[in-house]
Amino acid sequence: INGIVTIDGVAASGKSSVASGVARALEIPYLSSGLLYRAATWAALENGLTFDTPEAGRSLTALLGSWKEGGQPLTLRPLAGGNQIWQGDHDLTELLHTAQIDAQVSAAAVLPELRGWVNAELQAVTPPFLAEGRDMGSTVFPQAEYKFYLYATPRVRAERRVLERQQDLESVEAALKLRDERDARQSAPAPDAVRIDTGGGTLPEIIAQVMGHLSS
Ligand code: C5P
Repeated sequence: INGIVTIDGVAASGKSSVASGVARALEIPYLSSGLLYRAATWAALENGLTFDTPEAGRSLTALLGSWKEGGQPLTLRPLAGGNQIWQGDHDLTELLHTAQIDAQVSAAAVLPELRGWVNAELQAVTPPFLAEGRDMGSTVFPQAEYKFYLYATPRVRAERRVLERQQDLESVEAALKLRDERDARQSAPAPDAVRIDTGGGTLPEIIAQVMGHLSS
């Protein structure tokens, strides 16, 4: 692979585990776009910004821009074993996978200014890499060499996610369905993506399925 591979899919479809496994097998980095959306959401919440006003997007990108100018930009570290977000000397990653960020991130992600910021961060990276998210194949990297779209039923996804959150299965499934609805606009698969049902196999099997397409 000397170009770009995209792996898109719905929340908790197994995207990041599959992306990490495939990136390691290919010995290329992977970029988690969702982690950038989560970090921007965290930044907004820390600074008392809301997402429901006409100036919300501009205020948020102004905040991110001022951090960059001040030498403290939010930086994605695309480690193969799991992406991290740092600000200066601080690793923020573990603050970004909480039920609060889960509940707020879709409202931030509809802001066009924020989508522009995330896309510019990703497009500044030199290939080869694998990009993972919702609209990597459809919008951000339409020229990608290989595109995949992962999906699974809400119940299968909730059963996975409940292992990572301090919540019961019903609330996790309800939160996922709500996020699906809110994310629907930017989650349409690229027409040329290979679709894979991740409920149909174990993680190593899904990774092998993706690798099979890459080598054929
Ligand atoms: O992938 P993850 O579930 O961590 O993404 C968090 C949120 O970021 C999604 O629910 C969605 O609102 C937003 N997102 C997006 N476009 C992407 C990646 C993530 O809108 N490419």
